[in-house]
Amino acid sequence: MARILITSAIPYINGIKHLGNLIGSQLPADLFARYQRGRGNEVMFLCATDEHGTPAELAAAKAGKPVAEYCAEMHEVQADIAKRFGLSFDHFGRSSSPQNHKLTQHFAGKLAEAGLIREVTEKQVYSNADGRFLPDRYIEGTCPNCGYEKARGDQCENCTKQLDPTDLIDPRSAISGSTDLEVRETKHLYLRQSAMKDQLDAWIDGKTDWPVLTTSIAKKWLHDGDGLQDRGITRDLDWGIPVKKGDEDWPGMEGKVFYVWFDAPIEYIACAKEWADAHGKPDAEWERWWRTDKGADDVRYVQFMGKDNVPFHTLSFPATILGSGEPWKLVDHLKSFNYLNYDGGQFSTSQGRGVFMDQALDILPADYWRWWLLSHAPESSDSEFTWENFQQSVNKDLADVLGNFVSRITKFCRSKFGEEVPSGGEYGEREQALIEELTKRIRAYEAHMEAMEVRKSAQELRAIWVAGNEYLQAAAPWSTFKEDPEQAAAQVRLGLNLIRLYAVLSAPFIPETSARMLSAMNTLDTSWPEDVEAALNALPAGHAFTVPDVLFAKITDEQREDWQTHFAGVRS
Ligand code: MF3
Ligand code: ZN
Repeated sequence: MARILITSAIPYINGIKHLGNLIGSQLPADLFARYQRGRGNEVMFLCATDEHGTPAELAAAKAGKPVAEYCAEMHEVQADIAKRFGLSFDHFGRSSSPQNHKLTQHFAGKLAEAGLIREVTEKQVYSNADGRFLPDRYIEGTCPNCGYEKARGDQCENCTKQLDPTDLIDPRSAISGSTDLEVRETKHLYLRQSAMKDQLDAWIDGKTDWPVLTTSIAKKWLHDGDGLQDRGITRDLDWGIPVKKGDEDWPGMEGKVFYVWFDAPIEYIACAKEWADAHGKPDAEWERWWRTDKGADDVRYVQFMGKDNVPFHTLSFPATILGSGEPWKLVDHLKSFNYLNYDGGQFSTSQGRGVFMDQALDILPADYWRWWLLSHAPESSDSEFTWENFQQSVNKDLADVLGNFVSRITKFCRSKFGEEVPSGGEYGEREQALIEELTKRIRAYEAHMEAMEVRKSAQELRAIWVAGNEYLQAAAPWSTFKEDPEQAAAQVRLGLNLIRLYAVLSAPFIPETSARMLSAMNTLDTSWPEDVEAALNALPAGHAFTVPDVLFAKITDEQREDWQTHFAGVRS
């Protein structure tokens, strides 16, 4: 039994995620986790909310709540939606957990001991009215280049000129609007990534099986321009993990916190401790996933993320881990995704454009979305959600192909043989041909799933469903029944066994429906079809079943038009 550690990029706390976020990491990670469990492997699947940084502070301010309270509430909201989408995390943690505070401070201490942290004094804008330093984006003023009045401290949105906050004419705080600003000196910690360049370079060179998309991003950061830059890992904010060296205070760093991108990936590890603590398990239980000196050397670690996250996972986080000098597990395989667009534009959280996870579940069950999103995953390029395409996929793949197969065979059996697997007859040539085809296709499906080729896996699964439909069409038990009821019985027996087989194979994509199919077939046997012939004899003659309700309702043109209109604007 293999052991597989799976993490999904942890979603920001500030609001409910849209379908583009979902297909960019959490959903494909869930597909992989469910598949690996289905194959009998031991899986640890972790995700969490990413709770620090200015976006969290500002979202809380907008909601009129203290930031800790806002995060606690939004964590529950996200956890609930994830559950309703069937995301099967072993633990859904929080980057603000005490476990992550401790571990982040621990890493900083180790990095400091290794001489990999330097202190830098910088000049930064301080707002007297707000009582805080302002990051560049939270300073507004008039652009010196084009005169646009709402230019941000890092860039003018109107003429795209890159700016320094000190370039702005009449600068003011974007939080309070106050113009009572001054430039103050402040001290920050930098992680000396440049000193680790060769070590990281060698590590990436060893990753010969990684997609070029991934390694080329890493290589670009390592070699372009002046090469890998040191990175500021602290901020002048209230909300975050206080800067400490292990358990000790860090002189000169009082009142500062770690940068959100420093503590967020460390939460991947802390999350495992949260899991152990929540279940009253000893540390050894989570350490065997994460510490190579405590059993994790035979763990395969796979990360899922959107392409914008790749530099942090190929360089910054590995720099933290390698730099600590401690035997933590490094990523073995990194699966990254392009973007999903929405109906001719982009999904946008800030503009409320697109379909958000809660809204999606308000109109249709999770499996409809899971199927569409996974079968259209933005793997080799960006992909696009359109309502027409969604309607078409659901109606064809789910309703016509899978749903229709299940309904036809169960209803036919009930009418001619009653609600039990019929006895008599034998599998003949046609059945042998089907078994051969299915064997080939199932082996291909396994290979694609193992390789995390999400679209190809979906295509193969669909072809497996189609093969059953074609068999049924050709065998036509409703005609056979008239001349040769024994043969019809064998055909129906095979069809009913196919439902169980489909439930097992399809569970990673459409877990709820899979469970309904198994329950209609009245079986707990979820064993993987290593041997297809044996799998098609799993439900013996005389085994009782029930005819399930319609598995997938077709989307009507009227519904599609309604949704199209409803989701055309922005979410308020
Ligand atoms: N919250 C980030 C995003 O949505 C992802 C953080 S992943 C981690 O882009 F590695 F930092 F944890
Ligand atoms: Zn401008």
